[in-house]
Amino acid sequence: MCGIVGYNGTRKAVPILIDSLKRLEYRGYDSAGIAIFNEGKVEVHKDEGKIASLEKTLPDIPGNVGIGHTRWATHGRPNKVNAHPHTSGNISVVHNGIIENYQQLREKLTRSGYQFSSETDTEALAHLVNHYYKNDLVDAVILALNDIKGSYAIAVLCGNQLVAARKDSPLVIGVGENENFIASDIPAILKYTRKMIFLDDMEIAYVAPDKISFFDTSKRPIEKTMKVIDWDMEAAEKSGYEHFMLKEIHEQPKALHETFAGRISELEGAIAFDGLKEEQVRDINRISIIACGTSYNAGLLGKYLFEQLAGIHADVEIASEFRYSHSSPGSLVIGISQSGETADTLAALREAKTFGGRSLAITNIMGSTITRDVDNSIYMRSGPEIGVAATKTFMSQLGVLYLLALYFGKGKGKVSSDRMKRMLVSLRQIPAQITRILGNKESIKKYADKYSSASDIFFIGRTLNYPIALEGALKLKEISYIHAEGYAAGELKHGPLALITKSTPVIAIATKGLTYDKMVNNIKEVKAREAPVIAIVDEKDSEIEKYVDAVIRVPATDDILSPMLSTVVVQLLSYYTAKARSCPIDQPRNLAKSVTVE
Ligand code: AGP
Repeated sequence: MCGIVGYNGTRKAVPILIDSLKRLEYRGYDSAGIAIFNEGKVEVHKDEGKIASLEKTLPDIPGNVGIGHTRWATHGRPNKVNAHPHTSGNISVVHNGIIENYQQLREKLTRSGYQFSSETDTEALAHLVNHYYKNDLVDAVILALNDIKGSYAIAVLCGNQLVAARKDSPLVIGVGENENFIASDIPAILKYTRKMIFLDDMEIAYVAPDKISFFDTSKRPIEKTMKVIDWDMEAAEKSGYEHFMLKEIHEQPKALHETFAGRISELEGAIAFDGLKEEQVRDINRISIIACGTSYNAGLLGKYLFEQLAGIHADVEIASEFRYSHSSPGSLVIGISQSGETADTLAALREAKTFGGRSLAITNIMGSTITRDVDNSIYMRSGPEIGVAATKTFMSQLGVLYLLALYFGKGKGKVSSDRMKRMLVSLRQIPAQITRILGNKESIKKYADKYSSASDIFFIGRTLNYPIALEGALKLKEISYIHAEGYAAGELKHGPLALITKSTPVIAIATKGLTYDKMVNNIKEVKAREAPVIAIVDEKDSEIEKYVDAVIRVPATDDILSPMLSTVVVQLLSYYTAKARSCPIDQPRNLAKSVTVE
């Protein structure tokens, strides 16, 4: 929920910390702060608002070691006092996560004479480390963490010593030449190094300029493996686009190409995933998909695909609901999370695993927590996504789900070799077809501009297009702040039709497929209530334009694949609507990219 960074090296720490924090702003942006060891003492600077506000207030500080934080408030209001780092004596702490027993710790520490100046849970941790500190920072951190219940990724500064630790919140250590880095996420420090070591839960790192030592919570040394990340720096920059979201929408052909790379052979009609074996498929009789937000919408499409292509019954569950539903999951549980760190999804997956059965994660982040909790992981390979609104990761999730459903369909004998080959050829064409839609973005912008002053917008679709209607509505509401509903078009007449008036634009996803004729009827129903209707249709469709106010055409493809193309249209409509309303597109209010609290 928050972003943390640390640096220990030979360069000035401040510019590196500020630059890295700016790349983590997608994780939270209501206040920020740094602590730097300089000329024998630690200087702390904090401010309310974004990193840029903090940056303006900073003097020139030559120090070479420090920590930084960008906050998304959980305990305590977003203000300067509650901003991190929190300090106690010589100890400064930045923290991402939640300390659940902080109230008890606060009372205990207050009785021991510590004074609290903020409303945060983190301040208790700073006092605890100070309380235990007797010349060895690693010892003090271990003792403090033993007293804590909850989740954390922390960086602790004491003089020129820097220590990091994690449990249930992500943390990566960047390895440089005579300098080392700490960050909540890879893109924050990718400019400085590609060599990364992923900290696991209950591990502690002592980070010096020329050495990093790793320990478990009994202070036994641990050997860690370094990974070299192949994302390039450009992937973490805006590269001339006004917003990361627009850039990431444009990166979808490349993202999908990467998702498919090495996994499909259209000549042989074959799909292969590392670590998945066809014989495992035979035992799958029911699939439970667990996810949140956009990943849930991808999962809903996955449900239709597993049922239609593989004949396997699938349920899709909102992770925060599944945890408390007491329902037993299928023989395969699939967790979908681009970040791999969503607390609700992780908790639900752990719950599902108590029933036995296999588990599989679909994620974009190598080494993320979800990958450690499951039997198999499939990486989406979208590259870094910085905009809070998920776009290219949604597309890659769909790409993985199509491949998986076809793979299962083949394994279950439901997809013939011929069908497989045809589907794979069509799938391969999707990236180029997305590029064609992107080439038409100005006409999509025209409709976004026209309806950007609406107060309510509906997205409707049926079967495979219904998840895309949900995703269109989610995108629009999160970045434009317009109230939007995604509805199964056949459900409108059971209530929501009462809301449809001439002031309620309706985006109807009406590509060809099983329910096309029914969808035409649903469009007529909303038109009869005078709603302006924009229909997303196949390029060859000549029927719907008679009934609607505007059509946006997508290239013709296999009916079952068209949701990938309609996705791009709803993303662009949302993007340009938010732009017309001058919204902060990459960092919408109250939201964060990675939601590591339940
Ligand atoms: C989508 O635009 C949102 N950022 C949000 O719904 C997101 O998809 C959700 O929080 C799940 O995140 P995850 O994929 O990282 O688990």
